[in-house]
Amino acid sequence: MDQITTTTLPTGPARPRRRTVLQAMLAGLGAVNARAALADTGQPAPAGGAAGASGVSDAATITYDAQQRTFHLRTPSTSYILQVLAGGMPAHVYWGRRLHSASWPGMRNGHEDAVAPARADLGDRDFSPNTQPQEFPGYGTGDFRHPAYQARLANGTTVTDLRYVSHRIVAGKPRLEGLPATYVEGDGEAATLEITLRDAPSGLVAILSYTAFAGHDAIARSVRFTNDGHAPLRLARACSAAVDFPHANFELLHLSGDWARERELIRRRLEPGMQGIESRRGASGLEHNPFIALLAPGAGEDHGDVYGFSLVYSGSFAARVEVGQYRTARVSMGINDFDFEWLLEPGQSFQAPELVMVYSAAGLGTMSRTYHGLYRSRLARGTFRDKTRPVLINNWEATYFNFDAAKLEAIARAGSDLGIELFVLDDGWFGKRDDDHSSLGDWVVDKRKLPAGLADLAGRVNRLGMQFGLWFEPEMISVNSDLYRAHPDWCLHVPGHDRTEQRHQLVLDLSRKDVCAHVLEAVSAVLRSAPVAYVKWDMNRNMSEIGSSLLPPAQQRETAHRYMLGLYGILETLTSRFPNVLFESCASGGGRFDPGMLYYMPQTWTSDNSDAVSRLRIQYATSLVYPLSAMGSHVSAVPNHQVGRVTPLRTRGDVAMSGNFGYELDLTRMGPEDKAEIKRQVAQYKALRGLIQFGDFYRLRSPFEGNDTAWMVVAKDKSEAFVVYVHVLAEANAPLDWLRLRGLDPAARYVCAADGKAYGGDQLMYAGLILPAMNADFLSTAWHLRR
Ligand code: DGJ
Repeated sequence: MDQITTTTLPTGPARPRRRTVLQAMLAGLGAVNARAALADTGQPAPAGGAAGASGVSDAATITYDAQQRTFHLRTPSTSYILQVLAGGMPAHVYWGRRLHSASWPGMRNGHEDAVAPARADLGDRDFSPNTQPQEFPGYGTGDFRHPAYQARLANGTTVTDLRYVSHRIVAGKPRLEGLPATYVEGDGEAATLEITLRDAPSGLVAILSYTAFAGHDAIARSVRFTNDGHAPLRLARACSAAVDFPHANFELLHLSGDWARERELIRRRLEPGMQGIESRRGASGLEHNPFIALLAPGAGEDHGDVYGFSLVYSGSFAARVEVGQYRTARVSMGINDFDFEWLLEPGQSFQAPELVMVYSAAGLGTMSRTYHGLYRSRLARGTFRDKTRPVLINNWEATYFNFDAAKLEAIARAGSDLGIELFVLDDGWFGKRDDDHSSLGDWVVDKRKLPAGLADLAGRVNRLGMQFGLWFEPEMISVNSDLYRAHPDWCLHVPGHDRTEQRHQLVLDLSRKDVCAHVLEAVSAVLRSAPVAYVKWDMNRNMSEIGSSLLPPAQQRETAHRYMLGLYGILETLTSRFPNVLFESCASGGGRFDPGMLYYMPQTWTSDNSDAVSRLRIQYATSLVYPLSAMGSHVSAVPNHQVGRVTPLRTRGDVAMSGNFGYELDLTRMGPEDKAEIKRQVAQYKALRGLIQFGDFYRLRSPFEGNDTAWMVVAKDKSEAFVVYVHVLAEANAPLDWLRLRGLDPAARYVCAADGKAYGGDQLMYAGLILPAMNADFLSTAWHLRR
């Protein structure tokens, strides 16, 4: 990788401004408030610029221009610029294609407001915060749009005004205390800007952090709040970032759904007023994924401006877009302020989660590949980050709770015969769990089902040449459990209120250190007791009666976020204690498919719906943000248990192969023909999984737009590609159809494994492959191309 150099212009007294030239420029632009733009600062020049880091290449630079008081962050193809305005208010200037010049000629948005307060104290009588594109907007000083943060102060008010104090630019990326976040493996991979702001009357300090990556077109933002005053204060809102766009000519895209139909792709025009998505459930949730994008009108897979926002957090979140009276768009995202409050005693700090922002000038495909590359290599961690993942057989849909050791061993043996590498024992192996009414919390093997214990079963599986994996739901407690009988106060609850059960279970109070310690040791004990190579970490309900028996009344509204910190703490210790265990997260399917969980567990169960046709939409929309190496996708039985559909085994295999592949059916009940097909699929996946899990992903046709879906994965060096096409309903006398490929080397020739013919990369991309006629419903076809 190239060396990175952070260019920082020397700090010094601001030079006199060339009013006439700039005034002429601004007059030409018409809409801007020339006087505000040209006002003398009346403030000392910000300090810290000269102390910039060295050793950072020009792929990622952060430049500070002391005259313009602008910061210019550059990734390989993007620029992000902010400016400290007169009086110290940080304003947003630009986010888009990379600009050649590090300096910014002084243009900015904002103008007089007919009715909003002006701030003469900020150096200009006509300066109105309500018209300024702000970098981290607050509440109470004349900006009527929604704020990114709000604090309840000791004097009872919520008025704050954060002003610039200082900044520093460092090579690399500091860690976020207690929270998952993207990271670097060397200081040359990124540069980070930290801007310190302070509200003088209260002493509230916010450090805005921005990381520009050298190898990814992404900017990671977060905020750390500190009470630097003398009296306690309470954060009532603490977004991770806000961006003010100069116009609102966008569509809002988000991924929303429910159990078994996770992440439907929704696009809608921005309209004046508030719009957005949020979770109030204590988990990112099935309803909305913590991701939104703003799309220029007509932007698509390969063209148009796209701005993505992905929150690295697994709890309640909010993403808001407000179109204001001047048709500007303010985006903010972070922990949901609904039912949130955080007490900061003097000297205490609060770290907001990270928001990963990606701009693409070339549509959604480029945005997705940026997220994939970053999340696969610098969010996911551990032994399995760069390793191909095993093909698994899971017993859930084969047996549900009804199994014994002999049945499990028979399924594993059948899997081993077909080349499957990992047997996963799902729910029902512990306590007395014959259905979902009991035993969560009692992580002791059920000797009625497995009389010789877990180690014995795992040993038998190992002797078949397979690894052994195990299901847990450690965050939960059944009312009918020994754990609940011993510790009825260990669940989230509010005295005097019934404890609302869902799936007959309650949520353990992970805001408590003692409960976290118990969960950690209970899971660790099982992992030490048997050769467990894989853990499926499930979570099957959201929070109600969110209260903790250990927190004082003034801090009850901290419970949900403290729960997340407790969970992240458990996962941090557990994954480092057991580095050779592959962890997969799950939440009633894809109910917590978020970047926060990916930091600890490199893969997630995408959905309980494994019907091949339903999965087209679920996997397509999931791929907007998440790489194939993050998605668990299995072949299940027909008629499908969720939708009753009967699809060919070949199609189920072709669809499931674009992810971490596995089976979820009773192999012992399959006939020789099906077994032969499974054997073929497993062998094919093993040959292709390096490409599938680590290649560049291209969406070719959308299941949200038509009767067919297509996608492909291309090796980083473009030496091979795998293309999948699925036709949902057959059509009589269908017209000829060509599928144009993407991402290939136009000058290379690719041999197609199916027909042995060589095609030009340009031919495949510009003309396409002729699609075969599909004379039945739910058929698929796939091509493997080699240079
Ligand atoms: C929900 C998961 O999504 C399923 O795959 C399965 O593990 C069940 N829980 C078991 O209760």
